[in-house]
Amino acid sequence: MKPRVYVTRLLPKEAMDRIHAYCDAKVWEGELPPPREVLMENVRDIDGLLSLLTDKIDAELMDRAPKLKAISNYAVGYDNIDIPAATRRGIIVGNTPGVLTETTADLAFALMMAAARRVVEGDKMTRAGKWKTWGPMILVGQDVHGATLGIIGMGRIGTAVARRARGFGMKLLYYDIVRNSKAEEELGVQYVELNKLLADSDFITIHTNLTKETHHLISAKRFEMMKRTCILVNTARGPIVDNMALYDALRNKTIAYAALDVTEPEPMPADHPLLTLDNVIVVPHIASASIATRTKMGLMAADNLIAGLKGEMPPNPVNPEVIMKSR
Ligand code: DGY
Repeated sequence: MKPRVYVTRLLPKEAMDRIHAYCDAKVWEGELPPPREVLMENVRDIDGLLSLLTDKIDAELMDRAPKLKAISNYAVGYDNIDIPAATRRGIIVGNTPGVLTETTADLAFALMMAAARRVVEGDKMTRAGKWKTWGPMILVGQDVHGATLGIIGMGRIGTAVARRARGFGMKLLYYDIVRNSKAEEELGVQYVELNKLLADSDFITIHTNLTKETHHLISAKRFEMMKRTCILVNTARGPIVDNMALYDALRNKTIAYAALDVTEPEPMPADHPLLTLDNVIVVPHIASASIATRTKMGLMAADNLIAGLKGEMPPNPVNPEVIMKSR
């Protein structure tokens, strides 16, 4: 008998094939996430769950799934899962780090460039028939080359952004709770306290996990510390930035511009106050969205799931102690 699993969205074909080869899989094929009651109903008899960042996997849900052995999240972030609750129940959790690093860094850089050079405003102006002439001050923006970039979170993705920024001759500052001496040596990034990074950076890009400590890390008080010309980019998790404080900061020109791949809430409703402003770009959480990367994420998620179902250590465990204890 194959282990029974529930997959909360259709993944790239290669990943689905791998899952079907080993598991008896039921797949939610909707475009939107399965509603909570559907998820609760479908986990009753499963051995494994392949979830997305849009699924809330909490203790209540785990209690509905007494046979659940493995949860595999199709994302590097896992703030949607109650990890201590999984660990207490002996459920191994896996995620998909590494494979999406460069693709996410590409988008962070794309957002930075688009905001600095007002690309989205320019496109809107053209489509609206408002491009009347060439003019000395039309859509003037800011230079990226030679500017100071502050990176909050110097892990894999922060480091990949730093590598790109070096090619643009940027001065690189970073803040993290742990120093990254390898990045300091290899990329010449300079560690500074958070408040100094906020005060000295022309661009700030966020690459930290969402935790209790980073929730609303970028608050009204912290916007006040930034340069009035500062451009903020967030491709990490929406709640790291207090979006209403961001709205005030952008409206009052406390900072110049923001470019967001992630928001709070998600999805961002079309009538959100931020979307009334011209100095913000918002895209719908697409940082890892290249065909190649989404396929690699799927294969990695499938491997994590299958290893967990076999009682083996997944290639990318979040709570490895579950398997270590069982040995
Ligand atoms: C992640 O993996 O956590 C991203 O937010 C989506 O790829």
